[in-house]
Amino acid sequence: MNLHERIYELALSRSFFFPSNEPYGGVAGFYDYGPVGVLIKHKIENLWREMFIKQEGFLELEASIITPEPVLVASGHVGTFADPVVECTKCKTRARADHLAEEHHYNVHNQKWDGKLESLDAIIAEKKLVCPKCKGEFGKAFMFNLMFATAIGGERAMAYARPETAQGTFTAFPRLFRNHGTKLPMAAGQVGRSFRNEISPRKGLSRMREFTQMELEYFFDPNQDKIEGFEKVSKTKMNMMMGGEKTEMTAKEVVDNKVAPNEIMTYFLVRGWEFYKKAGIDMSRVYYRVLEQAELPHYSKGNIDMEVETSYGALETIGNAYRTDFDLSAHAKQSGKDVSVHWEGRKIIPHVFEIAMGVDRFFFCILEHCFREKSAEKDWEWFDFPPCIAPYHVAVFPLMKKDGLGEKAEELTKMLRENGIDVDYRESGSIGRRYARADEIGIPYALTIDYDTLKDDTVTIRYRNDGKQERIKISECTKAINENIRNGRVTL
Ligand code: GLY
Repeated sequence: MNLHERIYELALSRSFFFPSNEPYGGVAGFYDYGPVGVLIKHKIENLWREMFIKQEGFLELEASIITPEPVLVASGHVGTFADPVVECTKCKTRARADHLAEEHHYNVHNQKWDGKLESLDAIIAEKKLVCPKCKGEFGKAFMFNLMFATAIGGERAMAYARPETAQGTFTAFPRLFRNHGTKLPMAAGQVGRSFRNEISPRKGLSRMREFTQMELEYFFDPNQDKIEGFEKVSKTKMNMMMGGEKTEMTAKEVVDNKVAPNEIMTYFLVRGWEFYKKAGIDMSRVYYRVLEQAELPHYSKGNIDMEVETSYGALETIGNAYRTDFDLSAHAKQSGKDVSVHWEGRKIIPHVFEIAMGVDRFFFCILEHCFREKSAEKDWEWFDFPPCIAPYHVAVFPLMKKDGLGEKAEELTKMLRENGIDVDYRESGSIGRRYARADEIGIPYALTIDYDTLKDDTVTIRYRNDGKQERIKISECTKAINENIRNGRVTL
């Protein structure tokens, strides 16, 4: 069984995530986060907020999801946000034409699709590829727009569920600029759902039709593409992949060798790298891939994507794009509103650097990278989540429910929760089984109330990774847990 198949089994049984609308059979590309998974998802989102909004002093907003058509005409999504597909002439099943051609031709010959629909038709005909469901012939390849369409109100005005949060940030830019200091650079981000009507999504959480993005848009004067704070990160080393070659480079080398379009993008490459590391990703299995011209999205003048090695192969998890003034200028033209700003004696349309990432795919990578097999020390599979990502910070267990131990444990739970610590309280089952259950969902610490607690108000604190324990005073629990979380400590 592949690692991702095992992860899916664990996800189902441990309430990380499961198919949406299960009694109806579920629909590919839609997942619900269960009570444990949702806690981890919030931790990921909050860590992003911490690192990309609060620590930087940037702005966060929450734009609406349903987006009127003109906005997405301007952004290019109505015209170009499409994948090539073929449809079965008999049963009407659709399949990604480029994926079929890759599988049967391009990957075999180490080639890339040239972007022409005729090339896909030729390969499908030559290889005699037919519908996997009914063996019917495929019709000609055509482009299929990936947005979910809807219509607003009585007028039935055409609209779409947004395909990226970014457009809401661009259309809010003039107001944000006026309301928040009228100066550049200015950056604003969003955490929110986006939607893509993928033809035949596979690979579970890594390709969803409804998913959560964390996107930051950094607006700057194109004549000033330096960034404060770069010096501090300039020595950070990252794995870079260029033209198929992987090398380790410092941020300074990335700028000096013009690997990234500017210092601003490089600064955020480092922040993305730090974010992933903090969230428990094995950074030896991560690299930034510099996209070639032909691979760039329609809005980008330079992209460097993060890729993470998983059992599915490499997954693209962060897109760093130099979007220039593409979007702001397009919205100015479409809406007829002036979006330029007065800055240092000039009237300019700011340029934009974007760091965009999906929560769900990242969540999946964390699960794979933090998964640990059974071993001589632990007779159960477990997750080595860093404390800042773990669903609960601490498990609280009374050794027995009787003799006042249960009450004492409930009191401790209440105190910890009131102090902002996430507690999983369990009182049934053997203590060994409860430790195993806590490990299985990656809880880093367990506090156990026993008979000594009644005598001296101390409890044991058990560390997940080595299973070792020490005694601490109840009055010191909050401080000790908080310190451990801050230091990422997982062993005694
Ligand atoms: N905003 C970039 C993306 O959604 O891929």
